[in-house]
Order: sequence, then structure tokens, then C-alpha cells
Amino acid sequence: MRLLLFLLITTIVAVAGCASKTATDGGEFGEIEFKSAENKATIFKSASCGCCTNYVAGLERKGFEVETRNMNDLSSIKARYDIPRTMESCHTTVVGDYFIEGHVPFEAVSKLLQEMPAVDGIALPGMPEGSPGMVGKKRGAFIVYSLSNGKHSEFIRI
Ligand code: CU
Ligand code: CU
Repeated sequence: MRLLLFLLITTIVAVAGCASKTATDGGEFGEIEFKSAENKATIFKSASCGCCTNYVAGLERKGFEVETRNMNDLSSIKARYDIPRTMESCHTTVVGDYFIEGHVPFEAVSKLLQEMPAVDGIALPGMPEGSPGMVGKKRGAFIVYSLSNGKHSEFIRI
């Protein structure tokens, strides 16, 4: 319970931080190129989110055609894709049948689209510093989870 509360608070603090941080393009986008034929992405985010906009820019640099949908409340999206609270981040990207929750490094997105595993999507919970679109320095490995029907397991550590 304490852990859950902690995670919830970290997420809230992180998401609140998102809106205040603007244009500076922090995070390491890396040099990985996408090999997937799937190059269209839709991103659901709030209009005021600077780090979300940075993530969009990163996707575009990777060759994605990105459609942005600004929403006041993202809870319907999280519900539609069965994304539990502990896995949530500030924005949800949809590529083909997969969702990509949060500031997921592009290596992980690339792995998802190349391997096409039988999962609903992948998530990097919260908004860790130094992840693509986020300012700050990376402090440790990012653990990206895969999700199926709301259940998570480790997908890749980057
Ligand atoms: Cu964010
Ligand atoms: Cu975001």
C-alpha cells in the first residue's frame, strides 16, 4: 500500500512537472532508426504538456507521421487501453494496435514494432529524468514494461 501511494505521488509530481517544463529538448533520443513499415502514430496528450511535445518531435525525427490529439482528461484513453495507474505517464502514443505509454526510449519502440509480440502495448511509468523528451540526467536503467490486459512484465531495460 505504501509503495502504491509512493508510486501514485511520484506520478502526480512527475505529471505536474511536465506542464511546467517547456521547449527544452532534454533526454537522449539515440541513433536507432525504425525499420518497421508502421510509420503513423497518434499521441494523446494535454495541450499544456511541454515534455509531450518534445516526445512528438522525437517521434517525427524518427520518421513517424504524428497526429496529435489534445485532451483535457486522459483517463478515457488509459481506460480504453487498460493502462493501470502504476504504469501511467503523461501521454499515450498509439502505433498500429499497440499503445506506447509515456517517454519510452525509441530502442524499445523499435523492438516492439520489429518483434510484434502478443501484448497490448509498452510503458515507461512516470516521467523519468533523461528519458526522451524529458529534461535532466538519466539516473539509472529505464525499465520498460509490456502490458497485456492491464498486467505488466518487464519488456526491456535500457
Ligand atoms: Cu511527460
Ligand atoms: Cu508526455
